[in-house]
Amino acid sequence: MDKTADVLFYLPASHDAYRQAIFDVIRIFLPRFQWAEDAAQAEQITIIQTEQTWTLQMGANRSVFAVDGLDENQRRRMLKQQVYALMQQYTGQKDHPWGIMTGVRPTKIVHRCLDEHMPLDKISRMLRQDYLMHAEKTALLLDVTARQRPFLFNRQQAKESVSIYLSIPFCPTRCAYCSFPSFCLPKPHLQEEYLIRLLAECQAVGDALRQQGKQIQTIYIGGGTPTSLSAPQLERLLDGVQRYLESSALAEFTVEAGRPDTITAEKLQLLHDYKVGRISINPQTFSQKTLDTIGRRHTVQQIYDVYDMARQIGFDSINMDLITGLTGETPDDFARSLEQIARLQPENVTVHTLAIKRTARLQLDELSCRQSNVVTEMHELMNQWLAGQPYVPYYLYRQKHMIGDQENTGYCLPGKESLYNIQMMEERQTIFGLGVGSTSKYVNADDWTLTQSSNPKDLIFYNQRIDEIIAKKIAKIEEM
Ligand SMILES: C[S@@+](CC[C@H](N)C(=O)[O-])C[C@H]1O[C@@H](n2cnc3c(N)ncnc32)[C@H](O)[C@@H]1O
Ligand code: SF4
Repeated sequence: MDKTADVLFYLPASHDAYRQAIFDVIRIFLPRFQWAEDAAQAEQITIIQTEQTWTLQMGANRSVFAVDGLDENQRRRMLKQQVYALMQQYTGQKDHPWGIMTGVRPTKIVHRCLDEHMPLDKISRMLRQDYLMHAEKTALLLDVTARQRPFLFNRQQAKESVSIYLSIPFCPTRCAYCSFPSFCLPKPHLQEEYLIRLLAECQAVGDALRQQGKQIQTIYIGGGTPTSLSAPQLERLLDGVQRYLESSALAEFTVEAGRPDTITAEKLQLLHDYKVGRISINPQTFSQKTLDTIGRRHTVQQIYDVYDMARQIGFDSINMDLITGLTGETPDDFARSLEQIARLQPENVTVHTLAIKRTARLQLDELSCRQSNVVTEMHELMNQWLAGQPYVPYYLYRQKHMIGDQENTGYCLPGKESLYNIQMMEERQTIFGLGVGSTSKYVNADDWTLTQSSNPKDLIFYNQRIDEIIAKKIAKIEEM
C-alpha cells in the first residue's frame, strides 16, 4: 500500500477560509485523508500571506507564488494549484486527469463561461491552465456542454416549467457496491402505506403546479428499483402519476426499471400503456462472474431476455448502466460488456465509475491503488470503442470517492438525449423530488442560484410526516 496513505496534515484555524479547498486537493491524492486534530502529531500547513506573494508550507515542502493583482477566487485557485504540485512531490503520484477540478458538476463552469460568450479556445485554455485538466477531459467537457446547450432553458422557460422525480426506494436485495439509499423490499403494509403517501404528495404538488400555471416537462421515477413493486402496485402508481401530474408539455417520462430480475412482460406492458417513453435496463456488467460477486441476483441471460421483451413491446428509448471498476473486473471483462452494448444498441448508455460507499471507506486507499490503473485502462478502452460507435456524450458528473479519478458519463445515439438527465445535472430548471429521501432543487431563474430541500430518508418518518412535507412543498410552489 502507498506509504503516504496515513499521512496527517494539520491546518491552523486561522486558515479556515481555505480548509475545504486544501482538503479537496489533498483528497485527490489521498482518498482517505482526514485533518489531524492535534498539531503535534502531524505535518503542519501554513500560508504566509503578503500583498504580493503567498508562501505555502506543507511539511518540509514549500512553494512561493505571486498573488499580486489577483481577486479572491483567483488566489484560491492558485493556492489549490500549489497544494496540487506539493502533493505530487509528496506522494510521487503523476498528475490526475481532472487536475484540481473537484466539483460534482464541472459542466456548470463551462456553461457559465458560454453564457458570457467566452470563446471556446479561451475556455479550453482555462480548463487546462487554471484547473490543470488533461486535454482529453477538457475535450470531453466541451463536447458534452456543446451538446447540452440547445436543451438549456432561458430564464423565461425556467420560470414556466418544472420536472418531477419520484422515489421508489425499494430493491429486491442490496447490491454490494451500491451507494444509493434504498431498502430491501419492506413489509407489504409499509409498501402500501408508502404508495398512498407518495400519491398524496403527487396529487398535492400536481394541483398546486396547475394553479400556478406551471408545466411539467419531464417525469423520472427512480430509486431503488421501481419495478420491484408488484404489477398492481406499479399500475396504481402509474395511474396516479397520469392523473395528478398530467401536463400538455410533458416531453419525457422515464421509469428506471433497473434490475432485470424485477422486470416482467406484464410490468413492461403497463409502463408502455401508461406512456412511459424511456426505461433503464441495467446490466452494470455482462460478466456472470462479476454479477455473482457483487450480489446482483440475476443472470446475463435475463438482461438479454428483458431487453428483447422491451423491444417487442415497443420501447424505443432504453438506457443501460455500466460500472467501471467493479470488484474483480478486468479490462477484458469491460471490453466484453462494451461489445454487448454495441450489439444491442440501446439508445442511452451510462458509464459510471465505481464510487466507494461509506461502509467500504476503510479499504479505500488499498482499493483505489489496486483498481485505479484498471479503471484508467477501462476508460482508455472505452474511448477507443467510442471511435467506432455512434454514441455521443450528453451529460457528465463526478462523485466523491470515485476510483481512478474519472467521471460518470451518459452517452446517447444522436438525438436521443435524456432531457431529465440534462436538467438534473445543469440545474437550470426546478425539479421537485417526491417520496422518501428525494431532493427538490428550486432554481432562481433571475441569477441561476439554487436552494435545495430534502424529504426524510426514513420510510416510517416520511409516512408519518407527509402532511407537513406536502405543506412545505405547496408553500414553495406558491412562492414561485
Ligand atoms: C440509483 S441506481 C438505480 C438502478 C437500479 N436499481 C439498478 O440497480 O439497476 C443508479 C445507478 O447508479 C450506479 N451506481 C450505484 N452505486 C454505485 C457506485 N457505488 N459507484 C458507481 N455507480 C453506482 C449503478 O450503475 C446504478 O444502475
Ligand atoms: S438494485 Fe440498484 S438501487 Fe438497489 S441496491 Fe442494487 S444498484 Fe442499488
